[in-house]
Parts: sequence; structure tokens; C-alpha cells
Amino acid sequence: MSGAPLRGPVLFVTGLEPVRRIVTGTSIGRRVATRFVAGESLDDGLRAARGLARSGMAAMLDHLGENVASAEQASAAADQYVLALKRIHEAEGLDCNIAIKLTQLGLDLGIDLAVENVERVLSAAAEGNTLVEVDMEAHGYVSATLEVVRRVRERYDNVGVALQAYLFRTAADVFHLPERIPVRLVKGAYLEPAEVAYQRADEVDAAFARLATTLVARGHPLHLGTHNPRLLAGTTRLLRRRGLRWEGHEMQFLYGIRRDLQQRYVREGYPVRAYIPYGDEWYPYLTRRMAERPANLWFFVSNLIRTGG
Ligand code: FDA
Repeated sequence: MSGAPLRGPVLFVTGLEPVRRIVTGTSIGRRVATRFVAGESLDDGLRAARGLARSGMAAMLDHLGENVASAEQASAAADQYVLALKRIHEAEGLDCNIAIKLTQLGLDLGIDLAVENVERVLSAAAEGNTLVEVDMEAHGYVSATLEVVRRVRERYDNVGVALQAYLFRTAADVFHLPERIPVRLVKGAYLEPAEVAYQRADEVDAAFARLATTLVARGHPLHLGTHNPRLLAGTTRLLRRRGLRWEGHEMQFLYGIRRDLQQRYVREGYPVRAYIPYGDEWYPYLTRRMAERPANLWFFVSNLIRTGG
């Protein structure tokens, strides 16, 4: 969240249709995207997962896409995940989970439809004992996401959920989660108003530390989704103070971000998993990565000017 005051303008600029067309229609746009996205196909995602496995990291595949407009699209997205799981299970020995977004699986069209699609994905994942982690989207989706997670957790153990430290409500949500469900704790990547979310980086960091403490105390496997060395070191100290190790917990990093840190933690023996996005719907994902670090946007603009796209 460093550089927080620039998030709004960056998200505004990247949200404009002409900007979207320039970024997705130019080779430099696609080149910038390849820093954060493994490629457009499932094979690209699996190749990245195998490469990271060779350097000691586990993986989590995310088939990019969100806010589908029809039940058919939602069902097709579930089909894609079922296929990805089949390929993961065929790749023996590959430690690879999947991440899903509920708006890709039909949440905008109703909770029942999302539950139906998520259960289909969970059933395929259960065949290989694979965890499916539900991403958390913009704040208007949090209640519905937690409701879907609660419903599917009654039938499936292999589901986890992401929670966002920047939202005020998360401090209460942690007390109403299904028992011992794995939680990926992140700061939060969407532009949220001051009525619902902390706006300052130090407040978000403090909330993150408090939530990590509560989640560990309540026995949730904690998946730390941050590249912030201070928060990672703080959690390591927290576990040590409680006489715990990282067993059952893990560090999660986004593909292409802070590779140095990822490798350092692997070398030091921590469990590290990389979140690997793939697919052709990379633009919304890229805009969030740009907003987190406006230098990414300036890099794109300066290259565009220099090369003419
Ligand atoms: P922080 O902002 O503290 O930065 C620490 C350092 O990381 C920076 O100094 C920089 O070096 C590097 N860095 C961070 N972001 C970068 C970027 N975009 N480009 C280049 N370098 C960067 N959010 C959400 O709302 N819902 C979700 O489900 C998820 N899921 C998720 C999974 C995983 C595995 C991760 C790591 C993150 C998410 N997020 C997310 C995103 C998260 O909310 C947050 O926006 C980003 O992780 C950035 O915050 P950090 O705490 O990582 O880094």
C-alpha cells in the first residue's frame, strides 16, 4: 500500500476505456503484463508452476477472469478450472492449488449459481486433495463471498478464503469463519472508500498484524499474502512466541513480484507458494498491480513513448 495517495488516480486512469484499448492493443502492454502473468494458456500456467517447483516453491494457479455476465460464462469458467485440476492431478508430485474469483463463477447472477459452480470445482479438486482458495474482491462482494464459503465448507474441507486487512469489517468477520478454514490474509487491492477501509499504509499494516494474531490464536492455517518483509518477519516472531512453526502456515507471493524475497525465504526453509495468474483476461489484474506500485505505470508509459507501442 505504499504510495497509497496515487492509487485512486492510477485506478481511474487505467479504468478509462481508451487506456484499456492502448494497453491491451500494444505489444508493450502485453510485455508489461508478462511480468505479472504467466501467459495466456493453461500450459503457460503449468509451465510456470513447474519452473517454480524446481526452485523450491509451491504454486497456486489463477485462471484470470471476473464479473461474468451469464450463467453460461460462469459454467464455462468452472469447466476451465475442472480441466486445470485434471492437469494438475496428472502432473504427479506438483504441489499446486487453485485460486478462484466468485464473480467469475457467477456471483453477480446469484449466490446459488456461485455455490453450484464452486461445488463443481471443489468436487474435482477433492479427487487430488487440492485446496481451492477463494479470492476476496471489492467490498460489496464480501458478505456474499463469505456466505458462499460457509455453504460450500459444510460439504468440502478443501476450501480456503482470502480476507483483506484494509476493511474495517474484517476484524469482526474473523470471528464468524468456519472453524479452522485456511485463510489467506492480504492487505486488499481494490480502491475502497474511507467509510469501509483504512486509507493509510500504517493503519493497514497494523490491522494486518492484529488479524494475523487473531487468526493464529483461533487455529486457522494462515497463508500470508504479502511481499512486505516487516509483516512477514512480524508473523514469524508471532509464531515463535506461541511456540509454533510455519507448519500448516505458508507465505504466498504474486508471480513476478519480489522474486528476490521469494527465493530468500525458500533458501531459509520457509514454505513459499506463488500465485500464478494465466489467461487472456489480464487487464483488470494488471491495473491492480499498477495501482499498488505506480512506478509500474510510469514504466509502461515511458516505454510506450519510447517505442511507440
Ligand atoms: P506492499 O504494498 O507492502 O509492498 C511491499 C513491497 O512489495 C514493495 O516495496 C514492492 O517492492 C513490492 N510490491 C508490492 N506490490 C507490487 C507491485 N504491484 N509491483 C511491483 N512490486 C510490488 N488482494 C485482494 O484484494 N484480494 C485477494 O484475493 C488477493 N490475493 C492475493 C494473493 C497473494 C498471494 C498476494 C501476495 C496478494 C494478493 N492480493 C489480494 C493483493 C494484496 O491485497 C496487495 O494489494 C498486494 O499484495 C500488495 O501489497 P503487499 O502487502 O504485498 O506489499
